[in-house]
Amino acid sequence: MFFFSRNKPVLKDLIPEGHIDIHAHLLPGIDDGAATFADSLQLIQAMQGFGITQFIATPHIIQGIWDNTHEQIISKKEETLQLLANSKASVPLHAAAEYLMDDQFARLFQKKELLTLKGKHVLVEMSYINAPIQLYNILYDLQLAGYVPVLAHPERYLFYHNDFNEYAKLVKAGCLLQLNLLSVVGYYGGEIAKIAEKLLSKGMYSYVGSDVHHLRHIAAFDQKVLLKDLQPLHEIIVNNQFFKRDTIE
Ligand SMILES: [Fe+2]
Repeated sequence: MFFFSRNKPVLKDLIPEGHIDIHAHLLPGIDDGAATFADSLQLIQAMQGFGITQFIATPHIIQGIWDNTHEQIISKKEETLQLLANSKASVPLHAAAEYLMDDQFARLFQKKELLTLKGKHVLVEMSYINAPIQLYNILYDLQLAGYVPVLAHPERYLFYHNDFNEYAKLVKAGCLLQLNLLSVVGYYGGEIAKIAEKLLSKGMYSYVGSDVHHLRHIAAFDQKVLLKDLQPLHEIIVNNQFFKRDTIE
C-alpha cells in the first residue's frame, strides 16, 4: 500500500504539453482570483511551467457579488494582453465567464450573446448550497437559445453526493461536466475526491479545468493524485484540445 501511494504521480506531471485550460480566474481585480496584474503573470507563468499553452480566463458573473459585464471582461482581457506583451510574455489568453445560473443569467442569455469558451460552449456553475429551483428549465432554455452548458466542478456540489442519480440526470439534460483538476489531489477534501473518482470511472466528465484563483492552488499541483485508476483522467484531459484556437481574439 505504502509502495503504491509513494509512487502515485503528482498532478502537474499528468498535464500534457500543449494543454488548454478552460477555467481559471486570471484577469486581475474583477473577481476572487488574481488581484493584480503581477498575480496574473505569476499564475500564468506557473501554469505554463506545467505544460499549459492556452488559457481561457473565466471571471465569475454572480448577481450582487461579481457584477461583471461582458464589456468589462473584454476590456480587462485587452488590458491584460497589453501588459503581458509589455512583460515580453506573449500568452494566448482568451476571455469567457463562469456564469452562476441565477435569474440574471436566464435574462442574459435570452437577450444577448454570452461569452463562450469556444463556439456555443458556455461555462456555468451553481451555488454550493443548493441547485437553482428552476435548474432544468434554465438548462432547457439555454440549449434552446443555442448554447451548450459546461457545468463547472459538479463534484463540489455536496447536495448531490447522496443522490448520485442527479449527475446522470444533468448529463441527460445536456450538461457537459467539467472536473476541477484539484479535486483529484484532495484539495477540496476527501469526499469530493471520492465523488470525482466515481464520476471519472463512470465516464461522466467531458473536460477538465484548473479553476486556479491564487498561488495556493498552484502549489497543490505538486500534490499526489489520489485516483486508483488514472486512465479516465488521461482520456478527458485531451478533450480540452477541442477549445484550441489559432488566434488571440
Ligand atoms: Fe471557477
